[in-house]
Amino acid sequence: MTAQADPLLSLSDYFLPVYRPRQVVLERGQGARVWDSHGKEYVDLAAGIAVSAFGHNDPELFTALVEQAGRIWHTSNVFYSEPPLRLAEELVQASRFARRVFLCNSGGEANEAAIKLVRKWASQQGRKPDQRVIVTFRGSFHGRTLATVTATAQPKYQAGYEPLPGGFRYVDFNEIAQLEIAMAAGDVAAVMIEPVQGEGGVLPAAPGFLQQVRRLCDHHGALLVLDEIQCGMGRSGTLFAHWQDGVVPDIVTLAKALGGGFPIGAMLAGPKVADAMQFGAHGTTFGGNPLAAAVARTVLHKLQRPELAANVGRQSQALREGLERIGRELGVFSQVRGRGLMLGAVLAPAHAGQAGAILDAAAEEGLLALQAGPDVLRFVPALNISDADLGDGLKRLRAAFERYLARS
Ligand SMILES: Cc1ncc(COP(=O)(O)O)c(C=O)c1O
Repeated sequence: MTAQADPLLSLSDYFLPVYRPRQVVLERGQGARVWDSHGKEYVDLAAGIAVSAFGHNDPELFTALVEQAGRIWHTSNVFYSEPPLRLAEELVQASRFARRVFLCNSGGEANEAAIKLVRKWASQQGRKPDQRVIVTFRGSFHGRTLATVTATAQPKYQAGYEPLPGGFRYVDFNEIAQLEIAMAAGDVAAVMIEPVQGEGGVLPAAPGFLQQVRRLCDHHGALLVLDEIQCGMGRSGTLFAHWQDGVVPDIVTLAKALGGGFPIGAMLAGPKVADAMQFGAHGTTFGGNPLAAAVARTVLHKLQRPELAANVGRQSQALREGLERIGRELGVFSQVRGRGLMLGAVLAPAHAGQAGAILDAAAEEGLLALQAGPDVLRFVPALNISDADLGDGLKRLRAAFERYLARS
């Protein structure tokens, strides 16, 4: 925290107080570093919640945005423009499974589209409304719209928004026996799952779990919907997280890193469901906006360079080892988990519930990181982060812990 608060902070009173940001005003960024309005520098291991895959002010993304801004900004979906047309083709080809794409503006919107697509498909299969259940997993996070917050099997996000839409059923993550029971009645139209739970604590699906889920879906004629909004787009070490699980999904949702910081979301539909929604079935004014699509095309292109995956692998190991060392030497973590550059450090019982206080100390030391619940620190840096930036980030994390431990 800076010694003197920025007077701009008083304006935050005009926001609906649904967020509680750290008391700094970020002004500019370059790569994995950002500076606040007092000129203080931070190492950014948060990347705008796993969004800024190429850090801040990436020259290729900047050029893509500016060049498109000089052509056309917006057409709506009643006219075509080149960037979304090309992006759709490129996403389908990169995905190895999809037949069509629906472009939107956010993760919540991508999942909302997926839920609607499941329901539409199920109705065309002759399933009655009570046979269109979608199973999701405790600890999941799928968004904040009324349907996606209902899919999000965490009561804290749902409280006070009842009545919630019907047709959702929850089971424990990584518990295949529970899923078997939940699907036994034959009324399940889809299972929706994050290959790595993000907000729920950076918890990867157990090895083989997604394959077991796929088999149950096939057995019951249900769809497999993968929410890769946080764990996808290179973050887990492969372009799509589920490539590491050896499954072919029916629907995949993307957002966050797809725009590298420019808002965009996408729902990818496989051959079974690609024709289920026809003219008038769904829509959005801004989805696939030419500016967003031009940036996303560049992101997708850059994500497929082999040197990027190699960097994710190398920095993942460095980050994991660095966190484990801090955990060992200061006794602050009980586990380090995750995949690629989506790692969570679970606080040891003596520090349970203290993630917020530790992140306050981190910001004071010039480090931006995240929590995933009160007990897990979450690190989702730019995928192209350098050795020097990551090394500095780990040094600042250690200093933050020393500061926090001296206080507690
Ligand atoms: C896995 C997952 N799904 C969906 C969402 C919702 O995305 P958005 O905040 O863009 O609506 C998030 C956001 O954190 C997420 O992590």
